[in-house]
Amino acid sequence: MIDAPTFRSTLGRFATGVTVLTARDASGRDHGMTVSAFCSVSLDPPRVLCCVERSADMYPIIQAASHFAINILTTAQEPISRRFAEERDDRFDGLGYTRGLTGLVLLEDTLAYLECAVAARYDGGDHLVVLGDVIAGAASDGRPLLYYRGGYAQMER
Ligand SMILES: Cc1cc2nc3c(=O)[nH]c(=O)nc-3n(C[C@H](O)[C@H](O)[C@H](O)COP(=O)(O)O)c2cc1C
Repeated sequence: MIDAPTFRSTLGRFATGVTVLTARDASGRDHGMTVSAFCSVSLDPPRVLCCVERSADMYPIIQAASHFAINILTTAQEPISRRFAEERDDRFDGLGYTRGLTGLVLLEDTLAYLECAVAARYDGGDHLVVLGDVIAGAASDGRPLLYYRGGYAQMER
């Protein structure tokens, strides 16, 4: 079996974008976390997936949630990525956002967003794989925030 350091450094060669996943708990409270394990799955029906670590505060929330939103960050939003990956209770404080069709937080000035209805959940080892049917979304112009080899990066073009 591949050893953990080799696995990590190998996966680190796969550059990704950076998103903030938002969802609400049963009491309607907003939660968000930084997620790079996001990808498209299907065009028809429009379907995406994301992976949430079982130790994350988000795990029980996304286990029970009917919907989630994906906010795709721009280069300028690296501080937002850091904020939603840090231990803090006030992740949304002082941030601009609107609410989507499902009432979920959509962060302002992102590159794009997708609102999804949870379609399925699968065991992904120490992560939960969550499939979402996309019910709304929009894209803007801008430069994507990238994550590569354990650090933030920007596109040169
Ligand atoms: C760039 C970046 C990408 C990340 N991607 C993921 C991911 O795809 N899935 C995940 O479970 N955690 C990911 N994390 C870690 C979580 O954002 C981090 O553990 C966060 O504190 C979890 O929040 P919570 O436990 O307070 O909900 C990522 C962190 C960073 C900085």
